[in-house]
This record gives sequence, C-alpha cells and structure tokens, in this order.
Amino acid sequence: MKVLVTGHAGFIGFHTAKRLLERGDSVVGFDNVNDYYDPAIKEARLKLLERTAAETQSDYLSIRANLADQQAVAECFNEHHFDRVIHLAAQAGVRYSLENPHSYVESNLIGFTNVLEACRYAEIAHLTYASTSSVYGANTRMPFSEHEGANHPLQFYAATKKANEMMAHSYSHLFSLPTTGLRFFTVYGPWGRPDMALFKFTKSILADEPIQVFNHGHHTRDFTYVDDIVEGIIRASDHIATPNLEWNSDSPDPATSNAPFRLFNIGNNDPVTISTYIEAIEEALGKKAVKDLLPLQLGDVPDTYADSSELEKAVGYKPSTPVFQGVANFVRWYRDYYSLDKCSLNKPIDPLSETPGSLD
Ligand SMILES: NC(=O)c1ccc[n+]([C@@H]2O[C@H](COP(=O)([O-])OP(=O)(O)OC[C@H]3O[C@@H](n4cnc5c(N)ncnc54)[C@H](O)[C@@H]3O)[C@@H](O)[C@H]2O)c1
Repeated sequence: MKVLVTGHAGFIGFHTAKRLLERGDSVVGFDNVNDYYDPAIKEARLKLLERTAAETQSDYLSIRANLADQQAVAECFNEHHFDRVIHLAAQAGVRYSLENPHSYVESNLIGFTNVLEACRYAEIAHLTYASTSSVYGANTRMPFSEHEGANHPLQFYAATKKANEMMAHSYSHLFSLPTTGLRFFTVYGPWGRPDMALFKFTKSILADEPIQVFNHGHHTRDFTYVDDIVEGIIRASDHIATPNLEWNSDSPDPATSNAPFRLFNIGNNDPVTISTYIEAIEEALGKKAVKDLLPLQLGDVPDTYADSSELEKAVGYKPSTPVFQGVANFVRWYRDYYSLDKCSLNKPIDPLSETPGSLD
C-alpha cells in the first residue's frame, strides 16, 4: 500500500512511518519540520527513516511543506495516489496553546481542512487522524469512554482537536469519506518529544536540576507506550471505518454514526500518578529527583484513564506496556542518543526550556 503519513518528522509520525516501511509499505511523509522544539531531533528521525527505507528497500519520499499551504497539499495529492492517509501532524502541547493559539489555528484547523479537502477529491479509502484524551476536558467519570459526550475542553489545544473530530464527521457524512479519529493518551517512549515531562525530567535529573511537579504529583495519567500507539494506529488504518447500521439519531452515540465515522481511545487502561512516573524515571536513571512541588496549573486536566475496549473489539488489540518498562526503554534511548551526539548536550534542547514539561 502507499500511505501518506503527515508529521513523519514528529515523535509518533516517525515511529508510524518506520513501522510501515518495515512491513513493506510505500510511505510519503509530509512535515514542515518546524521549530516548536529542537528541529535537530526531527532531522535525526528523518535520517533514520531514510536508512530504514534503504534497508527494507521500501519506497519512501519526504516532503517538507506546511499543511496550511493549500497548494502544497493539493500538489502532494495530485502527484501521488494514496491508499491510506494517516494524519499525525499538528501543533501539539497543551500548555503552549495558552501562549500561542494562532499556531493551533494554522496547523490544526487550516491544515486539517486542507487534508480533508484533498482526501475528498482524491477519494481516499480511509483517513485516520490523531485526536487526544484532552478532549475529555472537564469530564470526570472514569474510565473515559468514547460513548460519553466530550464537550467541555479545558484548553484551546483540546478545542482544536475536538473540532477536528467534528470536521471529520461532516466529511464522512457529506462525501462518504471513511474517517477514524484516535484519542491518544499521553504517549511516551524513545525519540519522544523534548517538550514533554519524561524528556524534561530525565534531562534535569541528570543535570542535578530540580523538576517542576504540578498538583503536588497527584495528577494521574494513562501513559501509553509509543509502540502500542503505533500498533493501534496501523491496525485502525487497515480496518476501514464503516457506518454503524444500528446508530440511532434519537440517542446519538458520539463515537459512531450512520456515516463512515469512528472514534477510538488508545490508552494503557492503567493510569499511574506523576509521582509513580517519576519513581520509574529515578529507577531507570539510578538517581533521585529534586522535586519542586507546585499547585495545579490553569488548563491542566487532573486525571486521565482510557477505556480502550472499543479499540480492542474492533481491531483485536489494546496497549499493555507497563510504565516501568517503557520508561526504562526511553532512558536507554536517551543515554544512547546523547552519547552518540555529545555536542547536543551542550546546547539548549528546545526553545521551550523555560516552560514546564507537558503531560499531553
Ligand atoms: N505525544 C502525545 O502524548 C500525544 C497525545 C495526544 C495526541 N497527540 C497527537 O498526536 C499527533 C502527533 O504528536 P507528536 O507527539 O508526534 O507531536 P510532534 O510535535 O512530535 O509531531 C508533530 C509533527 O507535525 C509537524 N507539523 C506541525 N504543524 C505542521 C504543519 N502546519 N505542516 C506540516 N507539518 C506540521 C511538526 O513539525 C512535527 O514534526 C499530534 O496530532 C498530537 O496532537 C499526541
């Protein structure tokens, strides 16, 4: 199959593109390699994708362009016929959306509109796209289920991702475009994002610097290992969304429709507190953290917990990597990566180094 992966220089897009190349698919990646965090890690991921394509002899093309550029997106779809589109590019990060909402409008709203339009005219067989656990916002009934309404986002990031789900539904309804939205729950693992807590905590602990722990470490998160996310993305993409023939408009299920539209959670179904997450990092590093305990921050969702049973029913898979194992894998990668590239340790790892580590 020929698959378009947007955001292939990013954390999850890179892992997804790599897995597709390894199974022999042709991959076209589309990413503007922006500097929201240190682009050096994006360049390193892109190099590894080139190497993987050479080793597996799979077709691979990397396009550097902005999804908000309608012409560039249209050209990409005119030049290639895609069997599947996996849309993972976005302006990610919960806390940054309080500082720079316009970046979310550009990538998540305009960019997503361009992807939908291109999929519509190219009659793409299936569009799979990233949503987030953050859409559950003010909901507190646990575990979070796709069958409950999620209408109270607590930050603009979540609002744009919820908008993506609604935009996708309109295209599924109007143009019979099969779409699957995947609500990822705090993803972590090797090649992870430098703006996220695991990366920042690891860096600070190694440098004997204090880490900022909000809500006094009482947040819980359903941390989900990146390999589990990728397995879920690829299985969901392979399994084309179809209309739910039992969908009842008098009592509308938010997760399905009479159009070919679906939403799934992908989470570990095993939340842990931030304090436990920090213990896993300390154990993997063999070193204790100095914690700066702080109150809850504006816009933070206190707890997340995924019900992943619908995904399991549909594609026969749900995440299961324990946090202590996944964090150890990340720390092993981090040590390897920065010992191979010693000079990187001496320069700032990301332009947001003054902001606290994101949990989503
Ligand atoms: N990592 C998580 O914990 C998490 C949780 C929930 C949802 N998500 C979602 O998963 C997806 C992937 O996230 P990630 O963690 O890999 O983030 P990432 O920032 O590492 O990757 C996103 C990639 O998209 C690219 N991009 C952004 N705007 C673009 C634009 N306008 N045009 C072209 N490329 C653009 C960036 O350069 C980047 O390489 C995103 O949609 C994100 O919102 C991630």
